[in-house]
Amino acid sequence: MAMAAAAAASSQHLGLALITSLACLRGRAGAITSAASKSCRLELDKLVPQLNAHGALSGFQGSRGYILREPICRPRSLSASATTQESVRGPSQAGPPSTDGGVIDTSPPRGTRDFPPEDMRLRTWLFNNFREVSSLFGFEEIDFPVLESEELYIRKAGEEITQQLYNFEDKGGRRVTLRPELTPSLARLVLQKGKSASLPLKWFAIGQCWRYERMTRGRRREHYQWNMDIIGIPGVEAEAELLSAIVAFFSKLGITSSDVGIKISNRKVLQEVLGRSVIPESSFAAVCVIVDKIEKIPRAEVEKELTALGLPVEAVDTILRALTLRSLDDLEELLGSDNEAVVELKQLFELARGYGFEDWLQFDASVVRGLAYYTGTVFEAFDRTGTLRAICGGGRYDKLLSTFGGVDTPACGFGFGDAVIVELLKEKKLLPELNHEVDDIVMPLEEELRPQAAIVAARLRTQGRRVDVVMGNKKMKWAFKHAERLQAKRMVILGSTEWAKGSVRVKDLSSREEKDLPLEEL
Ligand code: HAM
Repeated sequence: MAMAAAAAASSQHLGLALITSLACLRGRAGAITSAASKSCRLELDKLVPQLNAHGALSGFQGSRGYILREPICRPRSLSASATTQESVRGPSQAGPPSTDGGVIDTSPPRGTRDFPPEDMRLRTWLFNNFREVSSLFGFEEIDFPVLESEELYIRKAGEEITQQLYNFEDKGGRRVTLRPELTPSLARLVLQKGKSASLPLKWFAIGQCWRYERMTRGRRREHYQWNMDIIGIPGVEAEAELLSAIVAFFSKLGITSSDVGIKISNRKVLQEVLGRSVIPESSFAAVCVIVDKIEKIPRAEVEKELTALGLPVEAVDTILRALTLRSLDDLEELLGSDNEAVVELKQLFELARGYGFEDWLQFDASVVRGLAYYTGTVFEAFDRTGTLRAICGGGRYDKLLSTFGGVDTPACGFGFGDAVIVELLKEKKLLPELNHEVDDIVMPLEEELRPQAAIVAARLRTQGRRVDVVMGNKKMKWAFKHAERLQAKRMVILGSTEWAKGSVRVKDLSSREEKDLPLEEL
């Protein structure tokens, strides 16, 4: 208690000193990155490590430089852990000098993430799971450039995504953009393959996407998306396979149908309702994009936007009423049993029963999705506590290829982001403990034994053992601590006496037993 109080008092004192330093910097230059007073910065550089030691800055770690601007929306990495950079960065190592002689901001651009090793381990683990599930379902991996031609995303339905592009003109005068999603690139590749592709194609991809978004929990300006798409199958057996893969992924991670549900609908519901009024087919995508906002903006606003498209008031009313349907029986009653949406949804539920994941699915006519190109089934996975944004989403887009000048080809797929799932795993305490691990630590006791240590390390690595050679002039005590941190299984110690006999000392770090082993028995 006494220690904690002393730390608090002391950090309060340091806090005051920091505020004074910040005020000094702001007062003189307005922003820390400009030619602010060097002496103030030095003062600040001295203070921050002290404040960190007291935990006083813990809430600000990862904010831009030392200035506590935008602390709430600070970029977070997957596990939101403290960055290792901060412990590495000493007072005189606040970053390389910028060209104007100031100090660079060490935070990544707003809304983007660095992946220090602990976060990278989690990302790799997640991606491995994406890959394993994709391969269980017989999908092949593909990839495309992060930079794409802007024209791939020029759509007129008023989608949010097309207004969020990171687009610019390159040095050759071409309009390009960082891709906001993977589907248009996939369509481009399918078109490029043309007749040489034997359908169905079952492709998956894991790629970074960029959207200039308003940031909220689980939504950022760059994210990775796992996509699985099936090209060339018009029937809902394709959707059933995709949904089964999503469920297999959740189950693999320990998530159950009481944690997550998948809302499912079909755009043909809206098409049917609209077909009863006089609206040009070309406005269908725009109607879907507007209707998708029903839970985000007031109903009156949605009604206004729909009427502006030329929809009669009664049609708007029918659409909005249709969206409230939550049972397939009610849908059947509204549209008739031979309506395509009804037939497809019923088939899909029957297949889900066969696969054994029906309990994950729920019909919900309000799911429309905000992307213009969907033409049939649409779905979104959500967490049942209702606190997180959509975990993944997808659907059927049978007409996307023709909008690119190709021939209509049936297609469906989904996108699954890396951010919301990590939030969910964190909440459910399902995040794995991932450590940096090696098998052997090789420790030469004398500098002269370094070439011999190289022989030993090379030999062990050819056997597939993960080996860390102790570098620099380190003491045995350090080596043992290091071995503990890396959860090494063995310490392989080279001493001149043992080496003269052609042996090394091997210590088993779990049993603590040690023995001299000839090199060839290692
Ligand atoms: P989407 O619903 O825009 O669909 O995105 C799919 C998933 O990507 C979302 O459910 C979410 O997990 C993740 N996501 C999207 N935006 C962000 C963001 N700003 N920050 C973090 N995560 C995000 C598509 O992109 C479609 N192209 C999916 C698809 C593939 N449809 C057919 N094939």
